[in-house]
Amino acid sequence: MYHLRISAILVVIIYLTGVTEAVIYQCDHYNPDGEYTVRHCTLHGVTVVHDAADIDFSSEYPRPYWFDFQHSQMDEIPRALFTTFPEMQTIDFRETGIENINKFTFENAKQLRHLFLRLNKLTSLNNFIFKGCDRLEWLDLSHNQLQEVRNKTFHDIRTLTRLDLNHNRLTVLPEEVFWELPELAHLSLNDNQLVVLDRETFFHSRIVSLNLNFNRLREAHMVDRFQSWQRVHLRGNQLTSVEIPPVPVEIDVSHNNLTTILVSYSNILVESLDLSHNLFADISNVSALNFLHTLDVSFNALQSLPLTTFLKMKQLARLNLEATNLTTLVHGLFSQQSNLTWLDVSFNRLQTIDLTVLTAAAKLEHLHIDGNNLTSVGYERLPAMFPSLTYLGLFANAWNCSYLVDLVHFCRQHSINVAPQKSYGTTLDASNVQGIYCKSSQSSVLPVVTPIEHPIDTAPPSAELSIDRLLEMMQEMNKTTEQLVQEMMRALHQRATSAVGTPVVTASCTALHAYNYQVFILLILFAILILNVGFLLWVHHNANVRRAVDRMILFRREQGASIQTALHEDL
Ligand SMILES: *[C@@H]1O[C@H](CO)[C@@H](O)[C@H](O)[C@H]1NC(C)=O
Ligand SMILES: *[C@@H]1O[C@H](CO)[C@@H](O)[C@H](O)[C@H]1NC(C)=O
Ligand SMILES: *[C@@H]1O[C@H](CO)[C@@H](O)[C@H](O)[C@H]1NC(C)=O
Ligand SMILES: *[C@@H]1O[C@H](CO)[C@@H](O)[C@H](O)[C@H]1NC(C)=O
Ligand SMILES: *[C@@H]1O[C@H](CO)[C@@H](O)[C@H](O)[C@H]1NC(C)=O
Ligand SMILES: *[C@@H]1O[C@H](CO)[C@@H](O)[C@H](O)[C@H]1NC(C)=O
Ligand SMILES: *[C@@H]1O[C@H](CO)[C@@H](O)[C@H](O)[C@H]1NC(C)=O
Ligand SMILES: *[C@@H]1O[C@H](CO)[C@@H](O)[C@H](O)[C@H]1NC(C)=O
Repeated sequence: MYHLRISAILVVIIYLTGVTEAVIYQCDHYNPDGEYTVRHCTLHGVTVVHDAADIDFSSEYPRPYWFDFQHSQMDEIPRALFTTFPEMQTIDFRETGIENINKFTFENAKQLRHLFLRLNKLTSLNNFIFKGCDRLEWLDLSHNQLQEVRNKTFHDIRTLTRLDLNHNRLTVLPEEVFWELPELAHLSLNDNQLVVLDRETFFHSRIVSLNLNFNRLREAHMVDRFQSWQRVHLRGNQLTSVEIPPVPVEIDVSHNNLTTILVSYSNILVESLDLSHNLFADISNVSALNFLHTLDVSFNALQSLPLTTFLKMKQLARLNLEATNLTTLVHGLFSQQSNLTWLDVSFNRLQTIDLTVLTAAAKLEHLHIDGNNLTSVGYERLPAMFPSLTYLGLFANAWNCSYLVDLVHFCRQHSINVAPQKSYGTTLDASNVQGIYCKSSQSSVLPVVTPIEHPIDTAPPSAELSIDRLLEMMQEMNKTTEQLVQEMMRALHQRATSAVGTPVVTASCTALHAYNYQVFILLILFAILILNVGFLLWVHHNANVRRAVDRMILFRREQGASIQTALHEDL
């Protein structure tokens, strides 16, 4: 029993010394590209469970300011980071499993500019948790599981200019949540589940770009108090009505349930408006938008367009009228569009097309007339009318093959590309000319083609895209993989040849030291245990043996006695 007590005390002492020894993680000064930079600090294999008291950090070089983590698992952010490295400016906690941010975590993060917390497991943010980040400019909280943000969460970070809250599970936002962010310019709230927004939510910041795509908003109050808005994105919500504010330069309200558009200001500066994939039957209200460069009304069943629709849009350069159920393009509709370069009238019900409706559009470069059941088009006039034309979409019409051969031949002679866009996924088992279906006889039936989107792009026409650009991209890909491999090899080489004392080695050594120490203690404990058990067994065994000997002696005596008595009796 005495031995047991001593060994128990020993165990407790050794265990306590093991616990009080903090785990120290040391900076590795290679950045993610494998380049050695003394002011960069990568921390490997950091593990933080809820009590972070026994964790510390150190760096071979003073004052690193850029931090990231590799293979780390942290339930929460260790405060020690900000006390050890007060000059830290950027810290990237991406994919480290953070579930919670404690009060006072950033108390000492006085120089922090960029805080990246994307791809973690945050579910809610308490009031005042960013207190201390007096210079924070960019806060990325995207791709978490945030359901709740309190009305004072973003207090004390008045210098913030960019906030990413996209890809979370927010359903509501307190009206005052952004009120203490006067400098906030870029706000992403896309891919959440927001149902409503209060009228004054954005009333105290000079927002430049606001992304609310893919939420569940049924109404949006677009009140631009400082007239600072430049881009507002509301794609993929459930809006039924939208009021165009005077200033944003770019508005995307596509993929909603819009039937009404209100234009109540007299001087509206909107330059780009996407109304595609809605339920509009009438877009005559947009005719007041004099400054439009780009207008997309595709995939709305408009049926017809009033003659005055585009009359004031003298700067209109790109117009998408795909799949709008138009039957005719009346003369005069495009009379003011001298700046038009990109026009899409595909997948309508135009049985014929008279290109002279586009006489004013002498700068036209890109024209889609696909999917219209056309049998002919006055192509001989194309080069004279549109000297800049480089692309003509002809797919899915009712061309007869001999006519189409002539048409394609003519276009090739005049450097007009007619190759159908790749995304049609053409099956070439029907008669075709260069991938464009045609009727080889009066009775042949053409394949049915559903409209695909032709997104408006300002990039060079698809001809150049498909060959030169593709080759360029492939070369870029080649180059980057090559470079990547080279960088990797260089990094590996450096790591392999570097003597003991380089940051990488010390970093792993520190971790290894701590590990070895623990293993050592465990081994000692084991040895003590085995000794104790052995001793006890030995004692026990000895006692047994002694008792057995005693008994034997007794037995011998008794037996001897009886034998003797028996002998005596026998004798
Ligand atoms: C924040 O919300 C609480 C209730 O959740 C409310 O009592 C408080 O007035 C709000 N703060 C501000 C500044 O509106
Ligand atoms: C929006 O339209 C879709 C289909 O057009 C419909 O299923 C949905 O219920 C509509 N939503 C609202 C809010 O009207
Ligand atoms: C056009 O605007 C007027 C008011 O300016 C509004 O009453 C009407 O509903 C709007 N029409 C459409 C189709 O948006
Ligand atoms: C297009 O118009 C025709 C006749 O005007 C109508 O039958 C058809 O339903 C319309 N298509 C759509 C998608 O509204
Ligand atoms: C046409 O576009 C050019 C620039 O692309 C612009 O300078 C010019 O003012 C525009 N013309 C009209 C009539 O708006
Ligand atoms: C295409 O036009 C022909 C007449 O040129 C007509 O018979 C046919 O129904 C039309 N097809 C469609 C899908 O509109
Ligand atoms: C194709 O059209 C041309 C003239 O447009 C006509 O001469 C020819 O007979 C047509 N061919 C067929 C197979 O319909
Ligand atoms: C990419 O690299 C491979 C081999 O390194 C070479 O054969 C190929 O031509 C390269 N492709 C391009 C587009 O440069």
